[in-house]
Amino acid sequence: MTNWQKSDWRNKPRVQMPEYLDHAALNNVEAQLAKYPLLVFAGEAKRLKNQLADVAEGRAFLLQGGDCAESFAEFSSDNIRDTFKVMLQMAMVLTYGAKVPVVKVGRMAGQFAKPRSAPTETIDGVELPSFRGDIINDLPFTAEARTPNPDKMLQAYTQAAATLNLLRAFSKGGYADVHQVHSWTLGFTSGGNAAKYRDMAGHITDALDFMKAAGLDSDRANTLKTVDFYTSHEALLLEYEEALCRIDSLTGKPLAGSGHFLWIGDRTRQPDGAHVNFLKGVSNPIGVKCGPSMTSEDLKRLLGDLNPENEAGRLTLIARFGAGSVGDYLPRLIDTVNKEGANVVWTCDPMHGNTIKSSTGFKTRPFDSVLREVREFFEIHAAEGTIPGGVHFEMTGQDVTECTGGVRAVTDEDLSSRYHTACDPRLNASQSLELAFLVAEELSTLRDQRAVKAG
Ligand code: PEP
Ligand code: CO
Repeated sequence: MTNWQKSDWRNKPRVQMPEYLDHAALNNVEAQLAKYPLLVFAGEAKRLKNQLADVAEGRAFLLQGGDCAESFAEFSSDNIRDTFKVMLQMAMVLTYGAKVPVVKVGRMAGQFAKPRSAPTETIDGVELPSFRGDIINDLPFTAEARTPNPDKMLQAYTQAAATLNLLRAFSKGGYADVHQVHSWTLGFTSGGNAAKYRDMAGHITDALDFMKAAGLDSDRANTLKTVDFYTSHEALLLEYEEALCRIDSLTGKPLAGSGHFLWIGDRTRQPDGAHVNFLKGVSNPIGVKCGPSMTSEDLKRLLGDLNPENEAGRLTLIARFGAGSVGDYLPRLIDTVNKEGANVVWTCDPMHGNTIKSSTGFKTRPFDSVLREVREFFEIHAAEGTIPGGVHFEMTGQDVTECTGGVRAVTDEDLSSRYHTACDPRLNASQSLELAFLVAEELSTLRDQRAVKAG
């Protein structure tokens, strides 16, 4: 990008961003952050981009997942470990089904800022700014708590750095050894699909035993002992993103140093807006959420602006339409991408189009709707002859009760017992794993169909 400057977004229309009242405090925080070390290295972002290029071709599958919003209060080693662990377990199940490598990307180490449906909230006649995530303001309904506070960016940076440090240790330090995580069958001792799960688990265990017997299990088989695990978040708070954007000394290109993969939300993807302007200049792999209001014209512009060189792995389109609606929107967008000859990864976020209010008053997502949207996504890609590249979940390793359904059926009445999310409802560990099994089945069916076609 020749003339792009990382501060250009400041001259563009912006939505969903806080208004900081104390400009001196904001400038001070930005200046501090601008001196802090980047959280990721350009070589890692490049490596992820290459792996996403494989995803686009069907040679790998993308698993992206984590909290809707990371929170300062829920920050702990156990939470990080448990989400990381469930993602590894899901990846293993998916690898088994798809017979291709799974690219693992956490919604972690930076997923703090949230777009909101209304800029303010009114309770008993009192109107205050909406809560926008722990990097911006605080949840309690007081004027002080809800005033955007730039200092919170520093705490977010610190938490992101510590989270990434632990993730790197887990990924490379032995924790991710495949033999440590195949105890995932333990949770599936009962329920309708238990036998099927145990069967698949048995096959994977057999494969591991075989590899051990064949001597493929030695220390030299390093790929089984370490993993690549990447971080991602919605690039919403552009002051934070700009301060952590630097020119990479090796390539001379700007890198968003706050995470490996950044995406633009469904509410901030205006082609002439601030968020698109910022992300078009960074060299990281990036994503765009595509909801029902995405027009073909906007998509066409975004394809050209965000990926002018049509670089493989650069752009991921994250479809989030809602169960029952995928067929109304996705084929048209696939058509636009095909006509443009654009290189994209297609992935499915079956969470954000399926949020409902439960009979007991909690925001929830029925497991069946989540699964149905994924199935529709696969069916449409099969019909169009395009590649369903991955899935994007809001999930946690904790045993929460936020989404209803699943093998260990969470009911509307159960929601209140462990409803801990800092924003949208997440799949719990057991629901996440169950979904991975079901997606794996879809992938293996798809593989069989392709094999039949190929004759
Ligand atoms: C999110 O991913 O948490 C989110 C807000 O999604 P979307 O932009 O698709 O609504
Ligand atoms: Co969300």
